[in-house]
Amino acid sequence: MQRKEALKEESNLLPFLKIEGKRKLSGYMKVSGAKNSALVLMAASLLTNEVVGLRNVPQLTDIDVMSRLLRAIGSKIRQSSNILKIKTNKLNDSSSNLPYDLVHALRASFVCIGPLLARLGEVKIPLPGGCRIGARPIDEHIQGLRALGARVEIENDYVVAKAISPQKRLNGARITFNCKSVGATETILMAATLAQGTTILENAAQEPEIQDLAKMLNKMGAKIQGAGTSQITIEGVDYLNGCLFTVMPDRIEAGTFLIASAITRSPLTISPAIPEHLEALIIKLQECGCLIECSGETISIISRKSLQAVDITTSPFPGFPTDLQAPFMALMTTVKGTSKIEETVFENRMQHVRELQRMGAKILLEGNTAFVVGGNNVKATSIRGGDLRSCAAMVLASLVANGTSVVKGLEHLDRGYEDFAEKLNSAGASITRTHSQVQKTSHRTTKTYEDTQILYSDTEVA
Ligand code: UD1
Repeated sequence: MQRKEALKEESNLLPFLKIEGKRKLSGYMKVSGAKNSALVLMAASLLTNEVVGLRNVPQLTDIDVMSRLLRAIGSKIRQSSNILKIKTNKLNDSSSNLPYDLVHALRASFVCIGPLLARLGEVKIPLPGGCRIGARPIDEHIQGLRALGARVEIENDYVVAKAISPQKRLNGARITFNCKSVGATETILMAATLAQGTTILENAAQEPEIQDLAKMLNKMGAKIQGAGTSQITIEGVDYLNGCLFTVMPDRIEAGTFLIASAITRSPLTISPAIPEHLEALIIKLQECGCLIECSGETISIISRKSLQAVDITTSPFPGFPTDLQAPFMALMTTVKGTSKIEETVFENRMQHVRELQRMGAKILLEGNTAFVVGGNNVKATSIRGGDLRSCAAMVLASLVANGTSVVKGLEHLDRGYEDFAEKLNSAGASITRTHSQVQKTSHRTTKTYEDTQILYSDTEVA
């Protein structure tokens, strides 16, 4: 059965993974296209009425939601396995008023405010809402759009933005972000491509996804320099054309596989992966005692039997990625010594601590800092990932647990890891995807596997 059909069939059931612990991995693991890059490239396709072809798009529920959103506002999308062709030559009358449910289901869709405002001169988009890993405000997006000459108001849970100039065109400006935000940098970068004059972004986010976006926009005819540094210069143009673009490899998926190798003390070869995108993680894994070799877009890792604890502090790129903090914490439960893990990007990203503790891990949590006492064997139990990366961490911990674990929360995992269980199985893991008989409504699950009551949050990110 095709993956999409299988997911559809499961939609009224509650899926979970059964993971047999203590199995070694070996061989090769293929890395998919980057989810976070693909999502914003899809939004960027709204800047042109020509066809934008995207190759290497991962098949994930987040990508499906973004496709639904674009279709709802008038894009024609053709999908054939990992290729998407998007043409938005005519936007619907309602295209400046985005559907509430879809924007709420996917925070990343908020970046559509940039291209739609640039193309239409006005847009009304729901506030992205709360989420499980922090407050995640949008003040930097709003401040940037105002600087480009838009009137931006919040009205009844919607952000309403209008270009003030009589031609409804944005104007270039010098903008200094107060904090490094990936989403805000992407929003303003897209909006500025079609603005009149030059925009300079200071304190811009430097993540590889920003570089991928600038690369594609330049292929479409934009004039962007400096993406990947903290200062980006955008010379506005009148028109952007279509293009064919290949989404970069997913650095977070690649990093998760490297940690899977380390936690199981198994040798793995991972490709395609861009080593410079993973430098902060590679350095920490080497400090722990892993041997890592990079050759082109291939990374090979061999893990010593005994690994040492190391400390990490998350920070914007090129720092240690917040999206790998939870998987790395799972690894630290298995090493010698105590590690200090500090989360500085999001204020509520430690949900996995409780679940790891339930598996027997010794972790002391003080605010956003966790002290992990390694070396204790984690034991199999029934656990639940509360967000995408926590769920990946639960899978990794289960790979080394004594016994068979049950991992729930796959609605999160399916958002961001393409064929995660299948890929790990192909390297020697024993993971079965199954489901319990439950009644699920769109927002709430009542009776669930093992008497837990779970409320689905409607917005999640990362
Ligand atoms: C993106 C990634 C996510 C990753 C995060 C940080 C996508 C779809 N998601 O999320 O996987 O974990 O970058 O690398 O690409 N902030 C403000 N005001 C704003 C915007 C952000 O204060 O207007 C704060 C946030 O609350 C957060 C920090 O800035 O504390 C970083 O957020 P941001 O970089 O914007 O994350 P996202 O783009 O939402």
